[in-house]
Amino acid sequence: MTDTDRTPETDGGTETSTDGGTETEASGADLAPETDATTPVPIADPELSADAVERVESLLEEGRLADGPEVRAFEDEFAAYCGTDEAVATSNGTTALHAALEAVGLEDGDAVITSPFSFVASANAIRVAGGKPVFADIDPETYTLDPTEVERVLAERDDIAGILPVHLYGLPADMPALCDLADEHDLFVVEDACQAHGAKIDGRRVGAFGDAACFSFYPTKNMTTGEGGIVVTDREDVAERAASYVNHGRDASGTGGYDHVDLGHNFRMTSIEAAIGRAQLERLPAFNRARRENAQFYDERLADLPLETPTEPTGSRHVYHQYTVRTDDRDVLEASLDERDVGTGIYYDTPIHRQPAYETVSTAAARLPQAERAAEEVLSLPVHPGLSERDRRTVVRAVRDHFTSQ
Ligand SMILES: Cc1ncc(COP(=O)(O)O)c(C=O)c1O
Repeated sequence: MTDTDRTPETDGGTETSTDGGTETEASGADLAPETDATTPVPIADPELSADAVERVESLLEEGRLADGPEVRAFEDEFAAYCGTDEAVATSNGTTALHAALEAVGLEDGDAVITSPFSFVASANAIRVAGGKPVFADIDPETYTLDPTEVERVLAERDDIAGILPVHLYGLPADMPALCDLADEHDLFVVEDACQAHGAKIDGRRVGAFGDAACFSFYPTKNMTTGEGGIVVTDREDVAERAASYVNHGRDASGTGGYDHVDLGHNFRMTSIEAAIGRAQLERLPAFNRARRENAQFYDERLADLPLETPTEPTGSRHVYHQYTVRTDDRDVLEASLDERDVGTGIYYDTPIHRQPAYETVSTAAARLPQAERAAEEVLSLPVHPGLSERDRRTVVRAVRDHFTSQ
């Protein structure tokens, strides 16, 4: 495993939930041993359509490589998908978070509450933007920020400027409760939606809750642009500042030539990436449906085993960037699936506050027991839309064999 949450991702906007196919037995009796030992089931399998290739070819022929109209079109389409007014494309999810934090007005030294159980980019973005991450513990069932823990931090400190919740594994954090706390304490909210393209709460897509939200389009995500990211927001001022920041602080009107009204960076997306993104966005609804179908397939067939399968709170629509199970037998299960040619991932085996790079930052290590326990117990199974019927049966068979051979 070379990377953190690097698993395939796709999701769909036309959200039908699935009926999970035709089989419903939980016993695994329908899982005839179809395993082909020569065909491992990968944890991720990014896929580009012929359409994406054609779009890229035509841009290459026209010599349109860097920023341009293709990027503006992708921004408009992605904002429409999220139900937000504005979007600013970026070079990756980390730079999207950095630009969003600058755009909502993060000042040097401002403290921002975030999750210790995420890819390190969530907290790194706060630091590189000049802020100070403050960790609050997670809910052990959803793996996302626990609003009660956030409230506890808010009661203890008076230097908090914002909250950066993470929609981990494709499941939305409890945005209604977190936004209420933000309103009460006059804080900004930047959603880290890097793993949750198309996830919803009560019919509203993630990205449309905070002052801004950020997505990653890394190849393993629910949709990809290669590398890439985007900030979405309903706030025109935030969009203007983000657009300026990603372009060296240029006058966001686009008429300023080399007038740099603010400090900024080059976090721009390329036209090639945007072209891939436009083709992928069209397929996101089908990708997410397939992920949900795969998840339901596993839910039904693993329910009787001594492991916890993912939860989907009432009103939430999970898009299964990861299908993450939990067991205190995690390392043994991981080795056993590896032997059976089933790829798995551990996202994440070291909580951020325990990372060496956070030694001087973490202040509340002793009070994050849920994040620490999750880091020892989670294991993600292949759930990407490229799984065949045989693949997912192979996964179920391998997990069941592990437990029955104990
Ligand atoms: C939760 C989370 N935040 C931020 C990022 C950063 O995105 P990127 O890798 O595109 O910079 C990722 C991607 O891995 C992520 O999973």
